Amino acid sequence: MAQTWTPNSWRQKPIQQVPEYPDLAALEATEARLAKYPPLVFAGEARRLKSALANVAEGRGFLLQGGDCAESFAEHGADTIRDFFRAFLQMAVVLTFGAQQPVVKVGRIAGQFAKPRSSGIEKQGDVTLPSYRGDIINGIEFTEEARIPNPERQIMAYRQSAATLNLLRAFAMGGYANLDNVHQWMLGFVKDSPQAERYRKLADRISETMDFMKAIGITSENHPSLRETDFFTSHEALLLGYEQALTRVDSTSGDWYATSGHMIWIGDRTRQPDHAHIEYCRGIKNPLGLKCGPSLTADGLLELIDLLNPANEAGRLTLICRFGHDKVAEHLPRLIRAVEREGKKVVWSCDPMHGNTITLNNYKTRPFERILSEVESFFQIHRAEGSHPGGIHIEMTGNDVTECTGGARALSGDDLADRYHTHCDPRLNADQALELAFLLAERMKGGRDEKKMVVNG
Ligand code: PEP
Ligand code: CO
Repeated sequence: MAQTWTPNSWRQKPIQQVPEYPDLAALEATEARLAKYPPLVFAGEARRLKSALANVAEGRGFLLQGGDCAESFAEHGADTIRDFFRAFLQMAVVLTFGAQQPVVKVGRIAGQFAKPRSSGIEKQGDVTLPSYRGDIINGIEFTEEARIPNPERQIMAYRQSAATLNLLRAFAMGGYANLDNVHQWMLGFVKDSPQAERYRKLADRISETMDFMKAIGITSENHPSLRETDFFTSHEALLLGYEQALTRVDSTSGDWYATSGHMIWIGDRTRQPDHAHIEYCRGIKNPLGLKCGPSLTADGLLELIDLLNPANEAGRLTLICRFGHDKVAEHLPRLIRAVEREGKKVVWSCDPMHGNTITLNNYKTRPFERILSEVESFFQIHRAEGSHPGGIHIEMTGNDVTECTGGARALSGDDLADRYHTHCDPRLNADQALELAFLLAERMKGGRDEKKMVVNG
């Protein structure tokens, strides 16, 4: 693998999940236009995320990564972004309290548009059309016209990402994320939410701590870390022409960076070691995610780690494990053992969504109890192996959708039709996401107490 890497060397490799654009000249012209547009993120920011993730890899932090399965042009709006950010901040606060460690916040947002599909075609009745591949490629409507890949959509996705990122930066740095507002984040939450009381109690404790700190002179005015938060973006690097157009040299280091988002990941369907997606990702310096599903062998994983992180740099690689609640115990331990044996530095993260999808009343859904069960197994297995359960990766929204069943409100299969809005996979709603955070925080606290008992012997 000593071959020279360039931003377009992936074009020489076999590739999966590639859309068939009917007008290749138009595609090329679009990519050329995008290549002249400003970067969405800076290399320095990606480096900051990498060093935060390096701490997680060393056992000193927790990664919270989440957002839409697929962002859509139709749902683009300030309220959706704010509601997501608020739910995400609430989760982060709950997890920080539980883990007593810094929580690294990474959204699946501002670029999460392209979707891998298990089938290239979709059949409805007698009609067969190309599958929907995400708004950056084609339209979700089941018509021949909508399903034709259209390069102009890449420009729209770029612009939407820029606008989303602009608002997120304002929320993160402009006062909204100020810990003094920890109570206000509850406003707009469904009033009778089963999580409301629990959250209010936690917010009271934080406010009390803030009052104490104020009394000794530590305020959000003199301590920016209390009024600002680091929030990063991520998406699956699936549409490589788009990624290449936004790949730029960082003038300070001379290194190549993907500037479409801070962190990008490689999907479970596109991680063949000699194929295009691995080739593209190995050459850029951003922190990378790698989805690990049941078909990944221990040797296969080690080969990918060597390709993607030859210098064994902590923070470079996050393994996003997505086995399914009933398969995690079979697959995770062998991967952990191989990685530990070889001394590879990785962040272990749990995606409890993608291995737990079922169909109910003709809706794709995910039972909350299976999601929770996979996360619990993930924690238990890491505890048993002596490795650090470093993060979770979830599909969620700040809105009150009905896409996953279960949770404290016990959403049933009959409720799914009420507010099923996702453009791809079912997401946790704000209530379910916060509930998951509380349950996880309890487990983390349990883990800490256990460790103390062992230490104190
Ligand atoms: C996703 O994260 O939306 C996804 C498609 O995941 P995976 O590659 O793990 O199936
Ligand atoms: Co998904």
